[in-house]
Amino acid sequence: MFSKRTDWKLEENAYTQALRRHRECGTPILDLTVSNPTECGFQYDEAAILSALHNPEVLHYDPEPKGMLQARAAVAGYYQEKNPGARIDPERFILTTGTSEAYSFLFRLLCEPGDEVVTAHPSYPLFDFLATIQDVKLRPFHLVYDHGWQIDFQSLRESIGPRTRAILLVHPNNPTGHFIGNDEAGQLNAICGEHDLALIVDEVFVDYERRETPARKKRHGSFVCNDRALTFVLSGLSKIAALPQMKVGWIAAGGPESLVRDAMARLEIIADTYLSMSAPLQHAVPALLEQRKKMQPQLMARIEANVAQLDEQLVRQMLVSRLVIEGGWYAVLRVPAVQSDEELAIRLLERRSVLVHPGHFYEFPDEGYLIVSLLARTDEFAEGVARLLELIRAG
Ligand SMILES: Cc1ncc(COP(=O)(O)O)c(C=O)c1O
Repeated sequence: MFSKRTDWKLEENAYTQALRRHRECGTPILDLTVSNPTECGFQYDEAAILSALHNPEVLHYDPEPKGMLQARAAVAGYYQEKNPGARIDPERFILTTGTSEAYSFLFRLLCEPGDEVVTAHPSYPLFDFLATIQDVKLRPFHLVYDHGWQIDFQSLRESIGPRTRAILLVHPNNPTGHFIGNDEAGQLNAICGEHDLALIVDEVFVDYERRETPARKKRHGSFVCNDRALTFVLSGLSKIAALPQMKVGWIAAGGPESLVRDAMARLEIIADTYLSMSAPLQHAVPALLEQRKKMQPQLMARIEANVAQLDEQLVRQMLVSRLVIEGGWYAVLRVPAVQSDEELAIRLLERRSVLVHPGHFYEFPDEGYLIVSLLARTDEFAEGVARLLELIRAG
């Protein structure tokens, strides 16, 4: 009856079972996986957000497949601020209903069924679903950690085959926080040129940059002005303005002009087929995007406070350490690999009521990694980390 692409394992795994049992008991949980900013105690400018959604213009319907010019101009303006010397044309932007829809459009644009996209591991767990739904195969290559994360270019080259159509990277990566460096960007462009590949760069966390940088590394900024390969930058209000409920995303196309023109013409037809983004939101984009100026400082302050708290506790013991965090909303903890990460996460939940993610959620190749969100309220974060360290010390 159903397509093979929807043959997902629908049973709960041991971790989700443990979480359901724990919730059913009603025991309060210290949630160190929380990454929904609307649940983390930040101050939103409610009046400005609500008034952005209250606009008489929304009573008219005048569909524009790429999204309203005024909304695209606001998004282009956001990139213009980052690249004052460049001319960022709103005509190379397409608005989408969230970043996930942007992925679907790009996979439809670039891939025949069975074609491949290579992507870094560890990374964002939703990619597998986004690709499978579009009949695209993801081939992993590795990020390696050595005093900081970096792309393993040998593994990247080995992952490329005759059906590869694109390289996909999250910049900075979720959850490792790896920023693509200038050297790495040069190599990525060269590989795209050699193999005729597009570059897809998910920059939803690009504004959450920390000072901690591995020695000698020069970080690459946004890829919005990358002109050496056909490049698609993805982002949206979900992370940039901490407004995931608005479901506003976009694609910015860049690279050799004739390729960009062709890509935009095709993307416009894909977008026209759905016209999925609601007019009220398109009208609200300029004002909602402005909210980033109030939200990002709050999120950065929380991230820094939680990293400071984490470091203060880690320095008092030897069993757990953290990896370098260049940016993003997460910390990767190195823990003793004496059991699977999933077993450890379940024990932590059952014995100390603390929720963390095991590394394998994000395709870490080995055991010994837990992931915590840096958005949790700092008192809860500190208590959660203390309980985690205590459980590990107790063995
Ligand atoms: C790397 C990455 N891209 C995209 C998204 C989701 O974006 P959106 O809410 O716009 O679909 C997330 C959400 O966590 C993410 O981590």
